[in-house]
Amino acid sequence: MSTVVVAATSLVEDELSAAMARVLPPEQTGRDPLVRPSEQADFQSGAALALGKAAGVAPRELAERLAGAIRGGLAATVSGPGFVNVTVGDEWLWRQVAARLAADRLGVGEPLAGQRVVVDYSGPNIAKELHVGHLRSTVIGDALARTLGHLGADVVRQNHLGDWGTQFGMLIQYLDEHPDEQWRDVALVDALYRTARQAFDADPAFAERARQRVVALQAGDEGTLAVWRELVALSEQAFQWIYDRLGVLLTEADADAESAFNDQLDEVVAEFVAAGLTVQSEGALCVFADGVAAPLIIRKQNGGYGYPATDLATIRHRLHTLKADRILYVVDARQALHFKLVFDAAHRIGWLTDPRAAAHVPFGMVLGPGGTPFKTRSGDTVRLADLLDAAEDGVRAVLADKPHELDEEQLAEVVRAAAVGAVKYADLSNARTKNYVFDLDRMVSLSGDTAVYLQYAHARLRTLLAKAGADQGDLDPAIPPHPAERALILRLDAFDAVLREVAQTLEPHRLCGYLYGVAKALTDFYGACPVLKAPSPAVRANRLALCRLTAETLAQGLGLLGIAAPERM
Ligand code: ARG
Repeated sequence: MSTVVVAATSLVEDELSAAMARVLPPEQTGRDPLVRPSEQADFQSGAALALGKAAGVAPRELAERLAGAIRGGLAATVSGPGFVNVTVGDEWLWRQVAARLAADRLGVGEPLAGQRVVVDYSGPNIAKELHVGHLRSTVIGDALARTLGHLGADVVRQNHLGDWGTQFGMLIQYLDEHPDEQWRDVALVDALYRTARQAFDADPAFAERARQRVVALQAGDEGTLAVWRELVALSEQAFQWIYDRLGVLLTEADADAESAFNDQLDEVVAEFVAAGLTVQSEGALCVFADGVAAPLIIRKQNGGYGYPATDLATIRHRLHTLKADRILYVVDARQALHFKLVFDAAHRIGWLTDPRAAAHVPFGMVLGPGGTPFKTRSGDTVRLADLLDAAEDGVRAVLADKPHELDEEQLAEVVRAAAVGAVKYADLSNARTKNYVFDLDRMVSLSGDTAVYLQYAHARLRTLLAKAGADQGDLDPAIPPHPAERALILRLDAFDAVLREVAQTLEPHRLCGYLYGVAKALTDFYGACPVLKAPSPAVRANRLALCRLTAETLAQGLGLLGIAAPERM
């Protein structure tokens, strides 16, 4: 059943709007009823405070009138200078639990149905291993792709692999000059990159030969292309291995590599020239945006093309061929200017008709313990594979003190899921645009705002439900909910709303915060409400239903973050 279950917040908002229409003159209605979750009641509205003056009524009096006009099985009282406090009915709450459990996807709607959204994420540069700098784009992009897809969007994942840049000139030239170099292995390619880079930086004559090699590559020189193909294939294999290990959705089918646009670059640039949008500057061909001094260099002085031209061809492809309604670029905040210029150019040439359809989704940096860029002890960038290994060690150490009934294979699976979860959650739970400090001990902690904590909360529920047996009884809405049950139900009921919030703000940390709140409400519930030893079979049945809904919400929520929820831990 793909029924959409209407959340309590929507019910309360609708009822308050209706009450406003009943007591206010028509020109005063239709305003936001300003409903918020509240400590005083289930929800509180400050609408009377905002409207009182305009309506020429004292806020407190207006609040009384609104409260008196509220129907739909809701109870309303007034407090303070004019707040309306609304409580939903006890029976309604239990019915809501039953409705969500019975509905497909917990009754979450698909408000984005019919929208095609391209999500550009990960985009590593080939011939370098995936390192910590790629973590955020990969993890945030994946969570957004999953969440938008869950809300009905037709998501097209695009991995804009950097496979065409100057690094290849350097690598291929180096191999040409050092035929004995061992490099035909994914682990060796990274080392090759470092050696070639050193030669490039130290020897200007080599650097010049390397640049010539890029020209040969881009012009289609067969010998150069053959080596290039091998390097690309090796790298892609290594990336896929990490994506699979990370549980990221990206596959080879999502590759949207820079090289794929090579034969469109002449045409793209010609289109800009024909439209009169280009300016020659020191031999380079530039496109300027209003109010920005820096140009977008669409053709370099030496006649070659670079990242800007490729991104123009890419955005044209996404708009015209993929027919994207929206394009999200989940890329480092430091590329803000690049995207501003690319979007502006695409808008001016008429491809991007609605400028809001393309968005740069920037994120902050991952920092080391000292608050400086995260590096290994020897000053190298940290490989993602090493990071995951370290997280697994950390998880294993933490789990070692925990009693469990897992066999060796299950334990290995749990360690893997918990380590990946720890790294992803630590990244996702930080506000997207802020830098954060990578702190392994904290991210694998069993107590606190971590994936492991949420995974445990979930597994404990599954264990409890398994213990309860197959026949868990029918829910009885007539039993008044305990305050801890009420709080948990209302939390769970807000799942839909938080997913929409994530889709709107493109901030997965909101979902993390939500799930953490659910886990905390669950702890309060356990403290106040025995489940298996409930005072009566009917109460037990209600509590078990609530546990099922909690487990399902945690599992689906973690799933949308790209984090597995093992059944046993
Ligand atoms: N390869 C680029 C980098 O490492 C990221 C690609 C982002 N996507 C794009 N369409 N430019 O910086």
